[in-house]
Amino acid sequence: MSMLKDQPKNVTVNQLIAMGRNVLESYEKMDAAIDARLLALYVLQCTSSELILHGNDEVADHIKESYMYMIAKRIQGIPLQYITKSQEFMGLEFYVDERVLIPRQDTETLVETIIEYSKQNRVEKAVEVGVGSGCISVSLVHYIKGLNITAIDICENALAVAKKNVKAHQLEEHITLLQSDVFKDYDGEEESLDLIVSNPPYITFDECKGLMGEVKEHEPRKALTDEGDGLKFYREITKEGKKYLKKNGLLAYEIGYLQGEDVCNILKQEGFYNIKLIQDLAGKDRVVIGMKL
Ligand SMILES: C[S@@+](CC[C@H](N)C(=O)[O-])C[C@H]1O[C@@H](n2cnc3c(N)ncnc32)[C@H](O)[C@@H]1O
Repeated sequence: MSMLKDQPKNVTVNQLIAMGRNVLESYEKMDAAIDARLLALYVLQCTSSELILHGNDEVADHIKESYMYMIAKRIQGIPLQYITKSQEFMGLEFYVDERVLIPRQDTETLVETIIEYSKQNRVEKAVEVGVGSGCISVSLVHYIKGLNITAIDICENALAVAKKNVKAHQLEEHITLLQSDVFKDYDGEEESLDLIVSNPPYITFDECKGLMGEVKEHEPRKALTDEGDGLKFYREITKEGKKYLKKNGLLAYEIGYLQGEDVCNILKQEGFYNIKLIQDLAGKDRVVIGMKL
């Protein structure tokens, strides 16, 4: 890599971070200073205060090389989380790599809505469709006592990442992973679930073309789009899932911010009641919930 050639021989932690920032800035990377610092924390395996405390310490050559290697990956557009293999979600740490969607802060609105609901309603048995990294299922089981989830994904690769996270959080007894195309290979009892939750691939085929390169080129396409109008999974999960939900069971979706009306209508058509549209922290429509009649 060309930028490795002109590096000074001995550098301190602060100088290393400045070098990283300069390279990222010269490639017009947004958040250059933040990324340079986060990668330093990762490569040095230290806390923010240790980074400040040891800013003038000299860095070993192999650390400098790993750091600049990661900076090079970042300028190629590889998302920071795929480099550091980690993302925080609901205050918990998740392993992530190119096999799964990076958990988004928007999705916390979905999880928080269900946690609030569980304070007034019994939520013991659930299915998640499209588990990906496992961030939703793991967080729900972590925060809702007595909850057991069957977590479905069509992709074997995604399930391998979910398995790693379920294990890391020691929740193997409460989360069962299942490879299935939506409910096709799910053989649970009818009218047995308190909750079905999903953050399905909801980006339309057309919108997918206009996505940022970092997302489009590095995150799994199957996690992003239904290759159609963005509503395919809401139709399918609502129709198929209805029979597995108990009477008054909850269906909870994350949605794209322009899909509120359409998704509410899908729930209405399938006979759900108490349908609500909930906004995220930015005030955008983000979650739809409804109850089975
Ligand atoms: C938007 S991602 C959500 C991942 C994770 N739950 C999250 O919120 O970060 C959607 C997930 O649905 C999975 N998926 C796509 N098509 C599916 C299908 N037909 N049946 C089950 N899962 C599917 C993808 O592999 C992906 O992991």
